[in-house]
Amino acid sequence: MSSTPSKGRPTVLLSVSSFGAAGDGPVRLLESAGFDVIPNPHGRKLREEEIAELIVDADAVIAGTEPLNAAVLERAGRLRVISRVGVGLENVDLNAALRMGIVVRNTPEALTDAVAELTLGGLLSVLRQIGRMDRDMHAGAWERRMGGLLRGRTVGIVGLGRIGRRLAELLHPFEVRIIASDRAPDAGVAAHLGVTYVELDELLAESDVVSLHLPGMSDALIGERELALMKPGSILINASRGGLVDEAALHAAIAEDRLAGAYLDTFATEPYDGPLRELPTVILTPHAGSYAAEARERMETEAVQNLVDALEEFQ
Ligand code: DGY
Repeated sequence: MSSTPSKGRPTVLLSVSSFGAAGDGPVRLLESAGFDVIPNPHGRKLREEEIAELIVDADAVIAGTEPLNAAVLERAGRLRVISRVGVGLENVDLNAALRMGIVVRNTPEALTDAVAELTLGGLLSVLRQIGRMDRDMHAGAWERRMGGLLRGRTVGIVGLGRIGRRLAELLHPFEVRIIASDRAPDAGVAAHLGVTYVELDELLAESDVVSLHLPGMSDALIGERELALMKPGSILINASRGGLVDEAALHAAIAEDRLAGAYLDTFATEPYDGPLRELPTVILTPHAGSYAAEARERMETEAVQNLVDALEEFQ
């Protein structure tokens, strides 16, 4: 989708690379809004220098996880709105945006089910070695690998926000014990979900499975110390933000058999090409938490709608 800039119509940089892949509803919505659209010419996540170049003439951007830091935003003299397809805003310098009067919107609800369901899938996959047996069979081997049940285990959810709560709901039929840590414990939520709040160190020590559901942070939350606190033979899951986990320390913990395995959907640097790929009990997916068609279509639709609404506020 592209159009020649015309005077008077806002120019929108369609920076997110997979826009429209789940259905053409959002594309039609964008077309019917009558913007001039600059498409992402690379068909993948843009690098800083690429978005810095493309954003110069944009009044608004429909954004993925590409860097929208202060240096990039300073190039965007006309930019009024950043409409993120997704929830995380770690890639946007919110202080710089505020300073420059740029409105930032996201789609916080639309991907909850998709991420929670993928998390559960990754968890079961690690427990039953599904990924490993699949790789064996594709390579011609018929080898049954022993796994373990989820039923009866303790699952520790770090961050009981929308996705963490949905995961707790999905876990209920498995008859697990669920504990959680959160900066703002909510007694009502805990009672409703049958979850007990504990401090992070206690959660790490007691859980058979630890699943992270937090926004990104500048330092890793799970480093050597935290991995050492985890129960021997337990599993780590991270489908939130890669920087939360010290990947080298996790590699050591699994390679030395202190942890049984991990499921990771997010990485400190993406695309990921590091040594965790060599460990057979680690399941990896390419930051695909939201990649369920229903979720993507909803995220994209909401992102276009947010953009239209925000631009209207400027008129
Ligand atoms: C999000 O919405 O933050 C997901 O990680 C997809 O970008």
